[in-house]
Amino acid sequence: MGKQEVLLLVLVFAVVAFEQPIVDAKFSNSMHFNWGVQHSSVVGDGDELHLVLDQMSGSGVQSKKRFMFGSIEMLIKLVPGNSAGTVTAYYLSSSGIKHDEIDFEFLGNVSGQPYIIHTNIYAQGNGRKEQQFYPWFDPTADFHNYTIHWNPREIVWFVDGLPIRVYRNYENMGVPFPNQQGMWVYSSLWNADNWATRGGLEKINWSGAPFVAQFQRFRARACKWNGPVSISQCALDSPGNWWSSPTYSKLSYTKQGQMKWVRDNYMIYDYCKDTKRFNGQMPPECFQQQY
Ligand SMILES: *[C@@H]1O[C@H](CO)[C@@H](O)[C@H](O)[C@H]1NC(C)=O
Ligand SMILES: *[C@@H]1O[C@H](CO)[C@@H](O)[C@H](O)[C@H]1NC(C)=O
Ligand SMILES: *[C@@H]1O[C@H](CO)[C@@H](O)[C@H](O)[C@H]1NC(C)=O
Repeated sequence: MGKQEVLLLVLVFAVVAFEQPIVDAKFSNSMHFNWGVQHSSVVGDGDELHLVLDQMSGSGVQSKKRFMFGSIEMLIKLVPGNSAGTVTAYYLSSSGIKHDEIDFEFLGNVSGQPYIIHTNIYAQGNGRKEQQFYPWFDPTADFHNYTIHWNPREIVWFVDGLPIRVYRNYENMGVPFPNQQGMWVYSSLWNADNWATRGGLEKINWSGAPFVAQFQRFRARACKWNGPVSISQCALDSPGNWWSSPTYSKLSYTKQGQMKWVRDNYMIYDYCKDTKRFNGQMPPECFQQQY
């Protein structure tokens, strides 16, 4: 290796080391309005976003930056009252054909009946890994914290700090894991009354329109995607890459206990239990203990 190459290498590492995780408070700075622009608004000092759905259109936003690994955080207050047929989505996606995706979706309901918190994950185009939960609180009365932790070992879905689901890296069993593509962060509110509420039985009652979902404090404490060079950089176990440290590669016993409480009491669908759907050929990760 020549002197110049060494210098270049040192320079590259210096840049990586000093790259600060993104902490950008303002929706107007960190997001594009990619759908139904006239239906979305940033309010207050820029840290609150309203998405609107009416008979004309839904609406949505997309982060300007892509990320690979880290903590993606959002406070959300869902559509109140009769929200049947509406879906509020909050997810990461790489887009493209063999896309990766990590989902939170909130399926509305008629007044007084529970929302469904729907989760899913795609890796290299393979999805069909849904798990669903009832919230243990009224998600329309106040803002709640929906966070995704994504690192080379596992993905964790958190609600108000309680882990509700973990998806471990099962690449050693030939199951793809999202670690080759950066993902954007998206939020949207749309009409899904062909499937969302009681499997499509409850249609949207437009007399309640416009429907509004509110978002606050979007934070991506995450590794910025700079193209394929980020695949190894973001996975590196270095002090700056806190998400790759051993602490985040496995839930603590306390967190495991919290997750068990949620799953024992509020989980309503698990793809790993749906033998009929998979015709008995269950996905290989379903046979693994999560820990
Ligand atoms: C949201 O939850 C995550 C994960 O538990 C936590 O790290 C973060 O600080 C929380 N954000 C807020 C605003 O409470
Ligand atoms: C809506 O309420 C019905 C009746 O309680 C329930 O079966 C269903 O799971 C709830 N959620 C959705 C999104 O359909
Ligand atoms: C829609 O909601 C209105 C009240 O907002 C109610 O009067 C009407 O009966 C509802 N329509 C249906 C089809 O449930």
